[in-house]
Amino acid sequence: MISHSDRFDQWIRDRFVVLNTELERLYAEQADRSRVVGIGDELKQTLLEEGNRLISALLLEGNTDQGFDAAFDLLGNVGLFMAACRRHELTEPFRETVSPLYEASALAMHIGASIGVTPRFATAHLTTHNRAINGVYKRFTSLPAEQLFLDYNTRGILAYKRAADALLKIRPLGLSHPLTADLLSVANDALAQVQCSNAELYQQLNTDDFFYQVRPYYKPYRVGSQIYRGANAGDFAGINVIDMLLGLCPANDPAYSPLLVDKFLYMVPEDQRILRDCMRMNNYLDEFLVLIAQHQTKQPWFAKHLALFLAVCHSHGVTAAQHHEQLVEKYIRQPASALAPEYLDKVTASGPALAQLLSGLEKLKDRRCAAKRDDIATRHDDIVRLQQELERLV
Ligand code: HEM
Repeated sequence: MISHSDRFDQWIRDRFVVLNTELERLYAEQADRSRVVGIGDELKQTLLEEGNRLISALLLEGNTDQGFDAAFDLLGNVGLFMAACRRHELTEPFRETVSPLYEASALAMHIGASIGVTPRFATAHLTTHNRAINGVYKRFTSLPAEQLFLDYNTRGILAYKRAADALLKIRPLGLSHPLTADLLSVANDALAQVQCSNAELYQQLNTDDFFYQVRPYYKPYRVGSQIYRGANAGDFAGINVIDMLLGLCPANDPAYSPLLVDKFLYMVPEDQRILRDCMRMNNYLDEFLVLIAQHQTKQPWFAKHLALFLAVCHSHGVTAAQHHEQLVEKYIRQPASALAPEYLDKVTASGPALAQLLSGLEKLKDRRCAAKRDDIATRHDDIVRLQQELERLV
């Protein structure tokens, strides 16, 4: 006999996608593509009733522990349903004080608390932990723009993880180890792959399709009485591992550490552990500066490894600039600037006003680029110091 969770999974992979896609088709026909209320009401009710019925059966069943993977997967399915209800304005966190999705909230909180993650769908559910069946993985709609976005998000995340993994492997070997050069090259190649992947996404993704049909599924929503921010492609440890190990963003920077605190529960426990460990590690930039201060620069490995290290820092800055100046600019800032004011406050996944979000992302980008800024601390002067040392040596 098919289990309740398998039945729900089948529904999420099939009916749910059909209903969302049909609703998207109706919204796209409107002169004002942001309008959702009053359109496709029957379809919305069907989505709500079918989803609630399946979830109620799961809630009644109680805890049938099948291990982390099954629990995380089920949480993702409940989360996709709740995010779709939010997208179609069946729920609205600022209209309500408690989610009307009572059973879904209860199930999500039960699972989230028991496995140590946030009780909503997270990026991993749609990217790195999204099992495909016969070539098709879970998504909200069957629209090509959504698949394109998810394919390239997953590709970008996997490449960032490869870079982070290589940098972590240097830690026990030390900067002077001959194999450190190989690992720095692996990190550099992986960041080049992030750049390629982002460039292709930028070329291929249609702005309006993304803005009106993909992004709305990533809004904040309530689980019980709490509002949880939306998922974004940054909810994995690798990006911050790179920031911190390179030394471009220190964990004790009061402007950077809140980002880390905020994302812990949005990541799978394995990533939480990696990030926690990394926050206690020394960074390579500081170690190179110490080696210079100790006059160890004449060692044959030094110039080679320093050049590779600076290349990795440069690549990390380039990918950050690409994210901010191309992806965020083309797919968020530009379309949002054409939006009527009543819709503007609902644009971002994290919730804060767009201008505030953009300014935060720009500061992050400038830290990663080691840009010269007077208002925030960046490693600009230290990177210049290393570059000068390298020029002196070669
Ligand atoms: C259409 C494509 C994309 C757009 C419009 C976009 C936009 C955004 C925005 C607006 C945020 C801030 C969070 C929020 O929404 O509240 C964000 C965060 C983030 N995104 Fe993207 N993103 C895109 C694709 C990607 C891809 C492919 C990656 C690669 C893995 C990526 C990596 C990140 C990271 C790491 C963060 C967290 C903040 C940080 O550490 O930089 N994004 N993104």
